[in-house]
Amino acid sequence: MTTPAPNPLRRGLIEDRTGDPCALVIFGASGDLTRRKLMPAIYNLALSRSLPSGFATVGVARRAKTHAQFCAEMKEGVAQFSRRKPIDPALWSDFERGIGYVQGSFDDPSTYQKLAAHLDEVDKERGTRRNRLYYLAVPPAEFATIVANLREANLVADAAAERSGGPWTRIIIEKPFGDDLQSSRELNDCIASAFAESQVFRIDHYLGKETVQNLLVFRFANSLFEPTWNREHVDNVQITVAEDIGVEGRGKFYEQIGVTKDIVENHLMQLLCLTAMEPPISLSADAVRDEKVKVLRSLRRMEASTIRENVVRGQYGRGFVRGEEVPAYREEPDVAKDSRVETYVAMKVLIDNWRWGGVPFYVRAGKRLPRKVTEIAIQFKQVPHNLFAAPDGGVSPNVLAVRVQPDEGIALRFTTKEPGNATVLRDVAMDFRYGSAFGSNTPEAYERLLLDAMRGDATLFTRRDEVEEQWAFIDPVIDAWRDQAAPPPIYPAGTWGPEQADDLLARDGRRWRRP
Ligand code: BG6
Repeated sequence: MTTPAPNPLRRGLIEDRTGDPCALVIFGASGDLTRRKLMPAIYNLALSRSLPSGFATVGVARRAKTHAQFCAEMKEGVAQFSRRKPIDPALWSDFERGIGYVQGSFDDPSTYQKLAAHLDEVDKERGTRRNRLYYLAVPPAEFATIVANLREANLVADAAAERSGGPWTRIIIEKPFGDDLQSSRELNDCIASAFAESQVFRIDHYLGKETVQNLLVFRFANSLFEPTWNREHVDNVQITVAEDIGVEGRGKFYEQIGVTKDIVENHLMQLLCLTAMEPPISLSADAVRDEKVKVLRSLRRMEASTIRENVVRGQYGRGFVRGEEVPAYREEPDVAKDSRVETYVAMKVLIDNWRWGGVPFYVRAGKRLPRKVTEIAIQFKQVPHNLFAAPDGGVSPNVLAVRVQPDEGIALRFTTKEPGNATVLRDVAMDFRYGSAFGSNTPEAYERLLLDAMRGDATLFTRRDEVEEQWAFIDPVIDAWRDQAAPPPIYPAGTWGPEQADDLLARDGRRWRRP
């Protein structure tokens, strides 16, 4: 009797979601990202038994510290930022045995010799099988040095050898991927000098958010919505990435970047791509990314005159957020008193393809808005003829709102009749909430993304051509502002941005939705 082959659909969840054995090497291990996001994510993966049995974390940083000091810092970060608390002492002591620290300068070849020797030990002790996942949690100015030194020290496996079953090397890089199209190309060239594109994982943490992933499932695993997801039925789409926080001590960084490069060029464009893309031929990384790139290539490029018409920027002044008085952007530490950097931007974006021809996508992002909310709202067309004229009530168009955060969920607004003898119409919502449907402890974006990188699945990471197309769309906007004499209009902190943003929609006979 022959044993039947295991049905791949029936494999256990844990087996299915476990990464390959590997050493995760974090450059910039003394930084905030490691303490706040990466270590808590790795710890939570250990807690949910998703880490491979052969696994180790190796921090690399300039500061001299002992292994015990490094572990204590990481433990303190996990205790503070883990989504599951308190720390499980038994699990932590096991977890800690897999943590190592290599001290050295990123531009000193001896750092990489030390790292190579350390990794050899780790392979023997932890069974990490010479697989390496490098994480560059450092400013982009350091990328070239680290990449060149890794290559020189023979710490990058050949992608071809990997395809034939040899050990693998992958590299995760954090945004910003350059500062404009030119610099992003240079950065990509520099990384390509040592790594094949299949080894590069560019992280956009919005792609790791549960609801963002659910957008693909919602669109392509249901037959009800997709037939209406086009210019025949949709009047406009509104995408909002609002934050109530200011620049949080990152004034120096924000003076260089502004909200357009910080949020729109990456997170918001990715949300737009997933909303607008065609069904991919499969869920393979390249099939999904091919479709996103097509959306980016179909975006109508803007010139100076259309930018004046279709793009509004703003900067927050003093105001009140959740009842507390907060300073103006120009009063934040390390911000110029006459800064022209935008902390708010709204745009009307057009997608020139058959599905979306003529449907405006209104997108906006801002700091110091009334509350933190990320939402994609599909606003459907008005009924062709309204039978229910006032005074008994007007008919509002249907809206499908995908709430990315907080209160993750999807709500469909439609019109009903209020109970009673008169025909009075009322908007109601069919509301799906993650919290009540599945419980609220969803994994953090970094957990999903780190695990995917360990498994070699790049679907939720951005490919080189995507990043370059994103910059190609944003560059003309930034250039046009450089030539504009007027500074950005000021909006009081705690409001929904400058009034010019309302005018942008009012000119089209529309209004922003209050998310
Ligand atoms: C980061 C930006 O990429 O995203 C920050 O640099 C912003 O300025 C953050 O605050 C928002 O992320 P989230 O997950 O809190 O919406």
